[in-house]
Amino acid sequence: MAALRAASSNITRRISGSSIYSKTRPSEARWMSSWWNHVTPAPKDPILGVTEAFLADSSPNKVNVGVGAYRDDNGKPVVLDCVREAEARIAGNLNMEYLPMGGSNHMVEETLKLAYGDSSELIKDKRIAAVQALSGTGACRLFADFQKRYKPESEIYIPIPTWSNHHNIWRDAQVSQKLYHYYHPESRGLDFSGMMNDIKNAPKGSFFLLHACAHNPTGVDPTEEEWKEISQLMKEKGHFPFFDMAYQGFASGDPERDAKAIRIFLQDGHLLGVSQSFAKNMGLYGQRVGCLSVLCENEQEALSVKTRMQQIARPMYSNPPVHGALLVSIILSDPNLKNLWLKEVKVMADRIIGMRTALRENLEKLGSSLSWEHITKQIGMFCYSGMTKDQVHRLTSEFHIYMTDNGRISMAGVTTKNVEYIANAIHEVTKSS
Ligand code: LMR
Repeated sequence: MAALRAASSNITRRISGSSIYSKTRPSEARWMSSWWNHVTPAPKDPILGVTEAFLADSSPNKVNVGVGAYRDDNGKPVVLDCVREAEARIAGNLNMEYLPMGGSNHMVEETLKLAYGDSSELIKDKRIAAVQALSGTGACRLFADFQKRYKPESEIYIPIPTWSNHHNIWRDAQVSQKLYHYYHPESRGLDFSGMMNDIKNAPKGSFFLLHACAHNPTGVDPTEEEWKEISQLMKEKGHFPFFDMAYQGFASGDPERDAKAIRIFLQDGHLLGVSQSFAKNMGLYGQRVGCLSVLCENEQEALSVKTRMQQIARPMYSNPPVHGALLVSIILSDPNLKNLWLKEVKVMADRIIGMRTALRENLEKLGSSLSWEHITKQIGMFCYSGMTKDQVHRLTSEFHIYMTDNGRISMAGVTTKNVEYIANAIHEVTKSS
């Protein structure tokens, strides 16, 4: 009691001695600002910073192929018809109550079917601990925090390259990161042997971050046969696969086919984790709606894991937002709306595939001596062009074309109207290399 009293009086003394509690006169205002004078501006985000620069450019020719966000052939953001219809159904009927800490159970259940299969026994057996998450970033971050809390000594193996935010997520969760080979710059394809070696040499029971499909930023995915080998080796080594599936539907145009890698791992009996997002495949970017799931040994374990994931969410954001979750559950649980969604995903994926062909053809027509085959070989939203940072900077300063420094082109920003302009600019900056 005495110790408590002493501590409390120390705190009182510190508070009352501190200037934030003293009456402020104008001359003291400057002193107060020194609370944060050691804070320097954060470096620009390598992806979202590109959008900021693009928005600040007043050129009528400007093009944004930076952020991975779908655009129609007029370069405009798209709201899917299935989303408009779901919105119309909600209008006026939505109360503003809290969701539970784990979010909408209905939405989560429908979302799990996309990853684990419509008639998955694992869902029926309640072996999957799953919560609604703040899109893919939120799902990855929740998992990283969970990993740190319940496997505190573990590390995460991350492919090189990867989506830049993966590094931030596991860094802020204080999980140390190891890198594994993924991309082969010379072939502009998969470094399969490098990847297999790294999986083999990692200590037994390591955590591996895998992109389920449409790898960001490279657009390079393992083939089905390669996934089978990866799964087998990871099983032998007892590694934990964590799949980030931000682009389900964008690789092949069919969400079911894009879940192939996860299904292979499930067949091989892995216990695994999945991050799902509806930002891209339903165009719900700003709704921040996604799902984190962890497949457990049994129902009991899944229940414990789920309650612990909720416990991590509670002090961060309490419970997730309701609007996007309702849209998703309405669309996925109505067969007509789900069919409409599947058609719309395919339209988006096909437009991107068409733009890959157009960009490559335009470059070849210009007589570029470089090979642009990889533009059509890579899949998903991105083309990892192989352009250097200097070339990217020239594209921006001379042609007002904005993309990430690593030469990643968001094919979703390429249209029939700007493809020739982009090809010309790329040819100009690469022709002497
Ligand atoms: C991207 O890679 O461009 C997207 O996933 C957007 C983001 O948040 O980085």
